[in-house]
Amino acid sequence: MKLPIYLDYNATTPVDKQVLDCLLPFFSENFGNAASRSHLYGWTAQEAVETARQQVADLIGAETKEIVFTSGATESNNLIIKGLFESSFPLKRHIITAETEHKAVLDVCKHLEKLGAEVSYLKPDNVGNITLEQVQKATREDTFLITVMFANNEIGTIQPIQAIGAWAKEKNICFHTDATQALGKISVNVNEMNIDALSLSGHKLYAPKGVGALYLKKKSPATHLMAQMDGGKHERGFRSGTLNVAGIVGLGKACELARNSLLFENQKLSVLRDKLEQGILQNVSNTQVNGNPTNRLPNLTNISFGGVDGENLLMSFRDIAVSSGSACTSASVEPSYVLKSIGLSDELAYASIRFSLGKYTTEAEIDFTIKYVREVVEALR
Ligand SMILES: Cc1ncc(COP(=O)(O)O)c(C=O)c1O
Repeated sequence: MKLPIYLDYNATTPVDKQVLDCLLPFFSENFGNAASRSHLYGWTAQEAVETARQQVADLIGAETKEIVFTSGATESNNLIIKGLFESSFPLKRHIITAETEHKAVLDVCKHLEKLGAEVSYLKPDNVGNITLEQVQKATREDTFLITVMFANNEIGTIQPIQAIGAWAKEKNICFHTDATQALGKISVNVNEMNIDALSLSGHKLYAPKGVGALYLKKKSPATHLMAQMDGGKHERGFRSGTLNVAGIVGLGKACELARNSLLFENQKLSVLRDKLEQGILQNVSNTQVNGNPTNRLPNLTNISFGGVDGENLLMSFRDIAVSSGSACTSASVEPSYVLKSIGLSDELAYASIRFSLGKYTTEAEIDFTIKYVREVVEALR
């Protein structure tokens, strides 16, 4: 068994070998610019990009012309939120989001507040749920965007996307969801779920880093956004810049693989996750699981270890690669705002660990981790 055991798949995933084999030729022999219309090099690249566009679209039930390639979910979130603000303001200035969103949504909203936007940050309940009623109550005449993530990256809680989408549709408000952590793990269909815009990222689903996409539903308010990158009018003018062909080819292949193995992976991951979670809860006293126990990502468990110093805890886990309930900013280690938002104390948030599993996780690794966590926590206590 290779140590440390990788249990941080929500941070990033390795590139799948099949994905790598597909994309490598686009760095060398097939190096063409997808925008070169006058020769074979360009046509080959363009064809590969269009195949990838179909593969991405198929994973979420979209049409190819609704997919805009970006550098990742951070860019996709920036593009839809800032882009729609720019086309809506000053007539409409209100955004609805949640306290537990990723910084790639929250910091964009904070930025826009300085420019005149008004933002409602909904507070989740103690397992991380946002309700339709909260969204309805927060809705105003001048609301132009509701952005609620599909599944939380730290605690895995899945939001009532379909219901919020239906409400947004009724009110003719754009509904965006950051589905970065959901794709490849649970089934997502943009039409059935009333989604107008959706962000996704390659490196969370076994494709390379630095590539992602934004889904923009045709004839929906999402398509009114103003581009945030001007230039050669690539991607139907929504995102200028020479396409990252190799990355896009990889993203497409990864989406195809994810679609074909979704059910199998989902079941396999939840069995392993449950084994890990039960193993830790039964063998280590004073522990609790964070997040919605009945409606969360199948690959993740976030566990608080009472009575342990958080910083020591993470430093002591040398043989497993996991992430903590805290984020290092340049100046200090802060407790996770997600865990604080669902009611954890600073102390408990520091002493919380996210274990996130992926398709290369084995049962032997889970068995090892259960024993290892028990030994480390007991030694610390
Ligand atoms: C929910 C969520 N949104 C956005 C991002 C940012 O994605 P990217 O690394 O592709 O910019 C992440 C990655 O950590 C994430 O988990």
